[in-house]
Amino acid sequence: MTSPFTGQPGEAMPRPGMGAATGGGRPQVAVAVVDPDQAARSRLAMQLGQGATPFPSINDLAPRLTGQPVVIVLGPTYSNSAELQAVEQLLTARREVGAIMVTTELTTEVLQRALRAGVKDVLQLPVDSHALAEAVSRVASTLAVVAVPAAAGPHGPEFEADGEIGRVITVFSTKGGAGKSVIASNLAVTLARRSPKPVVLIDADLQFGDIAVMLKLSPQHTVVDAVSALDRLDASLLRNLLIEHPPSGLWVLPAPLEPAFADQIGAAEMVRIVEILRTFCSFVVVDTPAYFNDVVLGLIEISDDVLLVAGMDIPNIKNVKIGLQTLRLLNTPMEKLRLILNRANSKVKLDVGEVERTLGVQADALIPSDVVVPQAVNRGEAVVLNAPKSSVSKAIEELADLFLPVGAKRKR
Ligand SMILES: Nc1ncnc2c1ncn2[C@@H]1O[C@H](COP(=O)(O)OP(=O)(O)O)[C@@H](O)[C@H]1O
Ligand SMILES: [Mg+2]
Repeated sequence: MTSPFTGQPGEAMPRPGMGAATGGGRPQVAVAVVDPDQAARSRLAMQLGQGATPFPSINDLAPRLTGQPVVIVLGPTYSNSAELQAVEQLLTARREVGAIMVTTELTTEVLQRALRAGVKDVLQLPVDSHALAEAVSRVASTLAVVAVPAAAGPHGPEFEADGEIGRVITVFSTKGGAGKSVIASNLAVTLARRSPKPVVLIDADLQFGDIAVMLKLSPQHTVVDAVSALDRLDASLLRNLLIEHPPSGLWVLPAPLEPAFADQIGAAEMVRIVEILRTFCSFVVVDTPAYFNDVVLGLIEISDDVLLVAGMDIPNIKNVKIGLQTLRLLNTPMEKLRLILNRANSKVKLDVGEVERTLGVQADALIPSDVVVPQAVNRGEAVVLNAPKSSVSKAIEELADLFLPVGAKRKR
């Protein structure tokens, strides 16, 4: 699945691997599945296959139209909703957009309302995939191609491959909420500010990744786009899929916007993406989910460093201990592992030395607990930028020193 929609109205974008739900021979058309109900739109998007992009509402879709023909498949929620007004407005305004609707109960009333709004066809659920694709095709053939805006030119980090391979740092924990995303994002921001070469943060928490939210980014592209362009993927294509975090100059490849797409992404694909990224980056920082899966194992294998994050409570320590045993069983070189104790100053009566003894590993970094962290997270800001003098920021700067000591040329 590749999203052929842009984040900026009227902005052209590369359209790698844009799937076509329209079948052979006909011009390719983008398909948008719109339904406020997440399960309903995911189901429909899956049924339409490659090229169908889900949106929760017309208002989310509208700013992302590019002037290219788009067929909207309205989900069952639209059968009895006032939202058809938004559909009507959009269809009146944009000649390159057409719509069909699926409904659980095809009554005359539903049909009439839909047709009045400008919807071309209404299908009753369950609908077989062939009939759905046919209906999309029929609408596609009636759509006008509106002048495509001039190409915006390549964007993404400037780079010159100098033959030096970037260092891959994976941030992992066998416990949710341990602080992986906070540490991955702030470490990446810190390294980006220090490194003259690009630094990329990739969100490999494919189902529930929240790097984009934590850094207040509105991604046009995600890992899904990189995966669907994989057969043609190279450094210049990949860099067009990255989004910049303007305050730091960090580049981000966010997780899929819909959890349903996580299944389409395997370890080999993620590894390939990281291998390409490291050809032009000084660091590739990887955020992960809180469990071992193929993707995580593949990424750990190619990583130079694995930061194992543990919170300072017994369940955390227990899970990290199991995580460590698993990594040993998988023959992960222990030199790669670095233990990061998060919330290490909290008044929880757990002593750092005791924790280190239990885990049989010495901590490489102690990150204190500080209210500035949730405050920054809730504002979509990096704590190292937002509260640079806080003890947390200092600890993260020290963590970054392990990889790129201060004194290296500052970028901004
Ligand atoms: N050092 C810390 N001090 C205070 N709060 C923290 C700290 N580290 C993480 N948190 C809080 O814990 C929450 C979960 O952290 P997060 O990085 O999302 O965990 P994970 O990615 O491991 O699931 C964050 O929203 C943040 O507010
Ligand atoms: Mg996380």
